[in-house]
Amino acid sequence: MKANRILSGMQPSGKLHLGNYFGALKNWVSLQDEFECYFSIADWHALSSLYETPQSIKEYSFELAVDWLSAGLDPDKSTMFVQSEISEHAELHMILSMIVPVPWLERNPTYKEKQDEIKNVDMNSYGFLGYPVLQTADIILYKANYVPVGVDQAPHLEISREIVRRFHKLYKKKVFIEPRAKISDVPKLNGLDGRKMSKTYNNAIFISDSEKEVAKKIQSMLTDPARARRDDPGDPDACNLYPFHKIYSPQTMRDEIESDCRTAKIGCGDCKKMLTQTMLEGMKPMREKRKEILARPGDVKEILREGALKARAVAKSTMEQTRQAMQLT
Ligand code: TRP
Ligand code: SF4
Repeated sequence: MKANRILSGMQPSGKLHLGNYFGALKNWVSLQDEFECYFSIADWHALSSLYETPQSIKEYSFELAVDWLSAGLDPDKSTMFVQSEISEHAELHMILSMIVPVPWLERNPTYKEKQDEIKNVDMNSYGFLGYPVLQTADIILYKANYVPVGVDQAPHLEISREIVRRFHKLYKKKVFIEPRAKISDVPKLNGLDGRKMSKTYNNAIFISDSEKEVAKKIQSMLTDPARARRDDPGDPDACNLYPFHKIYSPQTMRDEIESDCRTAKIGCGDCKKMLTQTMLEGMKPMREKRKEILARPGDVKEILREGALKARAVAKSTMEQTRQAMQLT
């Protein structure tokens, strides 16, 4: 029996890219041995921005599960499930929404940021304001001790902790655990154009990209902008491509690039060729795993079905304790 429980989730809103992998998923994979892990495909959360095209969410949920499995989440170690299959998430969200003061949600920094970021749909909904409340329900239903999140999600976790404290104070019974953020240090990886890697910027390398697509994307990658001509010296520290070498290439190759870039002994084209080679090699295990998984799509559905069974039992029990604490039984 593992001592501590982890819960995390991702919205099914499209293919995962290397930013998602190095920013979260890789960390999840390594947490599986030490913790009892629950990973939720947060399809109701996805609805907050995809409510105009909800028909895409089912497909995305399946794709997300495939991405997870190909990256190394292991159904023998972790419980993976689709949020909306456990109706207790909705029930607890509703109950919590009665005790959460609206100003807590309005002053959440990610609320405003996301509203500014997402321009193609109206993000002024009641449900979007309550996003952290639903996320809190996700976490505390499973009495998770830790939530692995990026720094940008830390304010959400603070709200979760405040909600738990408020519930315990109001009903004088400790049903939940105050979840703690588990923030991992993430290597800085930008997109092809130097902006943050994002599906909407069209600058992402997806973990499901074919070898050909990856090679083509590396060719188009922005390098040191000061290095306009082949014989201009470059600076790996000012280069958008070099961080990929830090992840994928061996130290000897990196040492060589560090010196040969600064003296213009190599050009960016040479450097891209080297990266293509190491990166394709590095991504190979995921690509092969994906092939195996896609050959047996029924297994993916079975994994999610079994995950939901296991998750549901835990969620039902917590929900029962919640009603009892509130004397609603
Ligand atoms: N908000 C998270 C994201 O967009 C997804 C999420 C849903 C989540 N429920 C969660 C993350 C619970 C951590 C814990 O990435
Ligand atoms: Fe970047 Fe490599 Fe070009 Fe140097 S040689 S600027 S590290 S791509």
